[in-house]
Amino acid sequence: MAFPSAPSALWIVSLLTALFAAAVHSNIVNDEDPLQPMTSDETVSVGGMVTLTCRVAETDNSSLQWSNTAQQTLYFGEKRALRDNRIQLHRSTPTELSINISDVQLSDEGEYTCSIFTMPVRTARATVTVLGVPGTPQISGFETPVPEGEKVTLTCTSTGSKPPAKLRWYKGDIEVQGRPDVVESVPDDPTYNVSSELTLEVTANDDDTKISCVVDHDSVKHGEKKTEQSLRVLYAPDVAITPEERMAIEGQKFSLQCSGKGNPEPTIYSWEKAEGELPPLAKADGAFLSFSVLNKSDNGMYICHADNGIGKGRGSYTLQVQDTTAMSTSSGVDHAVIGGVVAVIVFILLCLLIVLGRYLIRHKGTYLTHEAKGSDDAPDADTAIINAEGGHSGAEEKKEYFI
Ligand SMILES: *[C@@H]1O[C@H](CO)[C@@H](O)[C@H](O)[C@H]1NC(C)=O
Ligand SMILES: *[C@@H]1O[C@H](CO)[C@@H](O)[C@H](O)[C@H]1NC(C)=O
Ligand SMILES: *[C@@H]1O[C@H](CO)[C@@H](O)[C@H](O)[C@H]1NC(C)=O
Ligand SMILES: *[C@@H]1O[C@H](CO)[C@@H](O)[C@H](O)[C@H]1NC(C)=O
Repeated sequence: MAFPSAPSALWIVSLLTALFAAAVHSNIVNDEDPLQPMTSDETVSVGGMVTLTCRVAETDNSSLQWSNTAQQTLYFGEKRALRDNRIQLHRSTPTELSINISDVQLSDEGEYTCSIFTMPVRTARATVTVLGVPGTPQISGFETPVPEGEKVTLTCTSTGSKPPAKLRWYKGDIEVQGRPDVVESVPDDPTYNVSSELTLEVTANDDDTKISCVVDHDSVKHGEKKTEQSLRVLYAPDVAITPEERMAIEGQKFSLQCSGKGNPEPTIYSWEKAEGELPPLAKADGAFLSFSVLNKSDNGMYICHADNGIGKGRGSYTLQVQDTTAMSTSSGVDHAVIGGVVAVIVFILLCLLIVLGRYLIRHKGTYLTHEAKGSDDAPDADTAIINAEGGHSGAEEKKEYFI
């Protein structure tokens, strides 16, 4: 009766040992245990490469091992265990085992396990998340041009993303709001097809405007996958009339050109005069109205109609024929210019004359001064006499003077 406590004490000890072993087995990283392997979770895109690294702080030279999601051993130390060329050894040291998995597939996703064969075995798990890369978006709805004022609905679709991608619409450079993305999935396929609709009411100004659909996803850089297409809008022509000649002068020829900016380009043009019939000498030929000889009676407002099948546009031009006197009046401007130029030239000539005159007067004055100086050369009568005597001294003096 003294012994029953002994077996129960043993039992408690073994229970504690089991609990301790369980604690070591669990995934809780024990900072106190330098033999506990450490790993990190990784995210990789389909087709990419991921490196799984397992490290221990210290080692008792026990082997490290990586196994896959199906518990198959991939590497045991530096020994390859599974025949899969996508999986390569990156580094094997007593404290580290790193492997590379290239050309990652969606099926590679899951939990990988690193183990170290100490007593007991210690393990750590690493979750690999594989991103499905969205396909380049496709836009539909551009098939036919849209008449202005009507609504067009465009649909953008991108396949194969995981998690579902986000689609964005841009009109020119400005983001516009489409309807919320529709996410489709099918059984046995972990990826999603995403689509978004954009409805626009188009105006003539929207013709040739770029609409783009951009895929936003962690596996692609923003703007890397996008599709751009131009809107085509049908709109009635906007008509303008321009004269071919600079001036409408009586008796000369003259013509007007009608241009209609529309989509499509207008093909049918017609001309009329607001005050009645077109003059007999005016010839309408498509977009042109030509006058072989202008006459004052041609004055008035001319109207051009352009039709492109979508609608009609109308423009007007008021013709004011100028007669020959009007022409000289208008060229009076030129006369004024010529007059101005002549005036300037005359002014310059006058100025030159004045300057020349003053110069001549001054020159004469200088000449007179020289004459006066000449008489002053001899300071007194004696010197004048010595100078007059000539002689050696005189020559010397002259020489000195020149030096
Ligand atoms: C591990 O192995 C290396 C060389 O093989 C040896 O130098 C080292 O002492 C060993 N360490 C332990 C803890 O056994
Ligand atoms: C493994 O991946 C690393 C980058 O993570 C790279 O530097 C190394 O060259 C790769 N090794 C092999 C064998 O592919
Ligand atoms: C996505 O679209 C492709 C092609 O249209 C189709 O084959 C695939 O089954 C679709 N997948 C999903 C998840 O809807
Ligand atoms: C203009 O027309 C009138 C009659 O319509 C004619 O008498 C006149 O000679 C014309 N003038 C010119 C410059 O052709």
